[in-house]
Amino acid sequence: MKIKVSKSIHFSSQIQFLFKEQATGIPDFMAEAGEIGVRYSEQNTIIYGGMGERDSVSTAIIRNVSAKAIQKAIELKRDRISVVLPSPDALAESGKAIIEGIILGSYKFDKYRSEKAHQVGTVELIGNISSTDVRKLAIVCETVNYSRDLVNENASVLTPERFAKEAGELEKFKNVKVTVLGPKELEREGLGLISAVGQGSSTPPRLIIIEYNGSNRKTRTALVGKGITFDSGGQNLKPTGSIETMREDMAGAAVVLGVMKALASLQSSVNVIGVIAAAHNAIGNKSFFPGDIYRSYSGKTVEIHSTDAEGRLILADAVSYCQAIYKPSELIDLATLTGAILTTFGEYVSGLFSNNDELAQRLFESGETTNERLWRLPLYKEYSDSLKGELGDLRNLSRFKKGYASSIIGAAFVQEFINDIPWAHLDIAGTSFNNGSSRGEIPQYGTGFGVRLLLEFLLNK
Ligand code: BES
Ligand code: ZN
Ligand code: ZN
Repeated sequence: MKIKVSKSIHFSSQIQFLFKEQATGIPDFMAEAGEIGVRYSEQNTIIYGGMGERDSVSTAIIRNVSAKAIQKAIELKRDRISVVLPSPDALAESGKAIIEGIILGSYKFDKYRSEKAHQVGTVELIGNISSTDVRKLAIVCETVNYSRDLVNENASVLTPERFAKEAGELEKFKNVKVTVLGPKELEREGLGLISAVGQGSSTPPRLIIIEYNGSNRKTRTALVGKGITFDSGGQNLKPTGSIETMREDMAGAAVVLGVMKALASLQSSVNVIGVIAAAHNAIGNKSFFPGDIYRSYSGKTVEIHSTDAEGRLILADAVSYCQAIYKPSELIDLATLTGAILTTFGEYVSGLFSNNDELAQRLFESGETTNERLWRLPLYKEYSDSLKGELGDLRNLSRFKKGYASSIIGAAFVQEFINDIPWAHLDIAGTSFNNGSSRGEIPQYGTGFGVRLLLEFLLNK
């Protein structure tokens, strides 16, 4: 899709955004927030997007209705659309939210469909927005769509090896360096937990490190993503009803790769290191067993109480290795870590855990801005205490009754491997995959949750 800025309307298919007070003359269209109306005149088709009451409008509402409007244009198989930005601008940021809605709302994963989805060829924007802003937003939103593609792709295609190859592509950009540890290096360097989780699969694990250095500043943020390319549960095999969508278990890694790609294409003036722990949690005669004890990169040993609590294991090695070798000034991990986060928040909010109030607050605010919402849960000592092992140093499940505080326990386990730096953990198991039908800018299946949030955090906060 081509997006350009224009001074006047050139196309007969148009999108316009209206507040309730502006919708008086249009029959059967009240301009409620998110409402879409279509009117045909002799020459033109006008798709109206409702923004609701002027007083209660938000960028979230505008982004959402913009996505629905472009979806209507796609349904009507339009090729060229003029989009009239609200004037005077309802909110300083409404033009941006409209562009985001258009690009995010046009996404469709149709790689495996014989009948491809219709695509809008050209969008012209009429209003007060700079082409530079449009270009930047397009890069950001296209990388969200890239992350969605990665999540939606077959687990047998997007293997750890393929993840490494995707990351390697980023070396074509300036200021990017990619390092990959394969199964032999992982063993040799002592990353015993990633090795254990990945050992049952015919596609062995990788630790992928993407360094982007765009600034002279000494600070560097690390982003660490859980990249379980398929989570069968291992010997603690997941039952039917829980296993079907487990190709989504690399969504954290997909966000990290997307963010690094966006930073590199924008050549942003920040230093960020993206770490992807990629492994296939397979069941088979070579896979690790409940009751086994493994030594992590940090030296701590871990008793395996469930091979299905594998995400915390690979994250533990990834964050330890990242801190030891790359010395980041702060670290954020993203993971589809627990089903319990879905029990808590449904698909609408991600769990936020942190050892640092300021970092937690900045992340929270970034999420409010991009409408990728976070809510913080506590990490009290009782939770960490419940992870003490007997034969090993730690256990990968708590001593609590099954299901108790499961999301917090997952976070507390990762915290055991965090040194004295600001750290946050985002549990995106609920938000990264939409099991229902599309909701405006949020498509079915892979949602790309976290890409815009982290870019907002890194570039504007
Ligand atoms: N990948 C799952 C968590 C998950 C569940 C992600 C649903 C997306 C949707 C994770 O590895 C897992 O299996 N977690 C267990 C932990 C339990 C064994 C302590 C869970 O949540 O049941
Ligand atoms: Zn699991
Ligand atoms: Zn998992």
